[in-house]
Amino acid sequence: MANEVYEAVRTVMAVREYQDREVPEGVLRRVVEAAHLTASASNAQPWHFILVREREALRKLGALIRTGGYTAGAAAAIIVAYEKKNQLAVSDCSRAIQSMILTAWGDGVGSNWAGWVGMENVCREFGLPDSYDVLAVVPLGYPKRKIIGKKRRKPIGEVVSAERFGTPFA
Ligand SMILES: Cc1cc2nc3c(=O)[nH]c(=O)nc-3n(C[C@H](O)[C@H](O)[C@H](O)COP(=O)(O)O)c2cc1C
Repeated sequence: MANEVYEAVRTVMAVREYQDREVPEGVLRRVVEAAHLTASASNAQPWHFILVREREALRKLGALIRTGGYTAGAAAAIIVAYEKKNQLAVSDCSRAIQSMILTAWGDGVGSNWAGWVGMENVCREFGLPDSYDVLAVVPLGYPKRKIIGKKRRKPIGEVVSAERFGTPFA
């Protein structure tokens, strides 16, 4: 029996090259709503998401992310900020990022996780209050190349046990 959610998990890949083509407003809205709807510990929702669409802002953003320069060529990007005072905020925001990546993929839009905490320069440039840090940026765009969908993962038996650690699962 087909399972669309599993299919999205199975086929989604990190996409770092994008077509020069806009992503429709409705799709971007759905991606943002997926973040908004994500569950968080104690339902605290210790996050803020900034949808960036202006080309010049995307260029600046790309220049500020050491491992995500390709954000400059995305159709849009979402800055994921977390409340520094909340100890579980990074977990909560990570889950929201996965919601966005899978939702985008469901609409044929590629994305990725770019960067890691401590992006004060992004906070400053995009006007975030001091109580926030940026966990990551999620660039979005239609993939430039056809995505083959071949994942490089450890064998499942190496990372999954049955009942107790070390008892073969597969
Ligand atoms: C927590 C986390 C941080 C990541 N950071 C970056 C990053 O800074 N830049 C980047 O290009 N990709 C980043 N990635 C994407 C991974 O490199 C990518 O998902 C992984 O190599 C597996 O490739 P695949 O998703 O295409 O299977 C990150 C992924 C995760 C989950």
